[in-house]
Amino acid sequence: MAILVTGGAGYIGSHTTVELLATGHEVIILDDFSNSSPKVLDRLKTITGKNIAFYEGSILNKPFLNKIFKENNIEAVIHFAAFKAVGESVKEPLKYYHNNIVGTISLLEVMAENKVKNIVFSSSATVYGVNNISPLTEDMPTSATNPYGYTKVMMEQILNDVAFADKEWSVTNLRYFNPIGAHESGLIGEAPNGVPNNIMPYITQVAVGKLQELSIFGDDYDTPDGTGVRDYIHVIDLAKGHVLALKDNLATTGSHVYNLGAGQGYSVLDLVKTFEKENNVTIPYTIKPRRAGDIATCYANSNKAKEVLGWTAQKTLADMVRDSWRWQSQNPNGYEE
Ligand code: WQD
Repeated sequence: MAILVTGGAGYIGSHTTVELLATGHEVIILDDFSNSSPKVLDRLKTITGKNIAFYEGSILNKPFLNKIFKENNIEAVIHFAAFKAVGESVKEPLKYYHNNIVGTISLLEVMAENKVKNIVFSSSATVYGVNNISPLTEDMPTSATNPYGYTKVMMEQILNDVAFADKEWSVTNLRYFNPIGAHESGLIGEAPNGVPNNIMPYITQVAVGKLQELSIFGDDYDTPDGTGVRDYIHVIDLAKGHVLALKDNLATTGSHVYNLGAGQGYSVLDLVKTFEKENNVTIPYTIKPRRAGDIATCYANSNKAKEVLGWTAQKTLADMVRDSWRWQSQNPNGYEE
């Protein structure tokens, strides 16, 4: 029985594939390379020593999806495939609603037609919106401030409604906080297209000389040092969380939701200073005005994942910044030559 990993050539999908294979699962990757590189597949073979079945295409293509299910014995799906740039989603909402929402509906319809009713979904802390106060718990109301965030809110709702209507379904929504870091080999890591939106790849590109300096978006927040506070989690811890969530998903039915966060907040300056200290590099920065849509503080209460899944984040902020730097310094241009 295999696990279909949609978006499996992406940052979190590729790290999750490593952990799935390490725990004895058979993996099939589906990816359209819209935000990832074919080179990831070679890197995964080097890391795991295994040839991983791969299909190139979109979750929007139902005949293509059906072919994958007909050709393989799939027991569950881990669904990462989605567009995820907040700013782009504001400029191109229909692109996001079509790809993320229609794509997920297309996947769920083909799963149902093939009697595969186990899915672990890549959601995000962004569904907590701007009105909930950290530490964030899974019972809090969800909302969004941009089309990307609304696609995550809506996809969670669609999955929950499917599980309510058909009691054979098992749905697990995983709300990621701020994933950073990379596999210890430095062979796979975060490789955003264009100028990074997220802070960690921006920092590593400054460190490697691709970008001049970091802009810190606001130092006048109501936080200890005035800069934004976030719950950074090592992508390997996140990947291990998926393995445990999958095990729980396969053993139950209904809909489940878990925060995957370290349960601790670090400021932008904490991150920059830790990066500089651990990697012996200097990150020049300038304080700029706040970024629209940002909130001051966001971190998880991750007790539920600990109690139900037996999962807690193990890696420290120092581990995260060292591993991010190893990936970037070994791959200054990401997966490009
Ligand atoms: C972190 C902190 C910024 C860039 C986003 C998405 C969320 C999830 C994770 C997908 C904030 C500050 C950032 C920069 C900065 N993505 N910052 N200079 O906004 O917490 O979450 O990514 O699921 O859905 O919303 O992450 O890394 O963009 O920002 O000062 O160049 O770093 O203000 O305080 P964020 P981020």
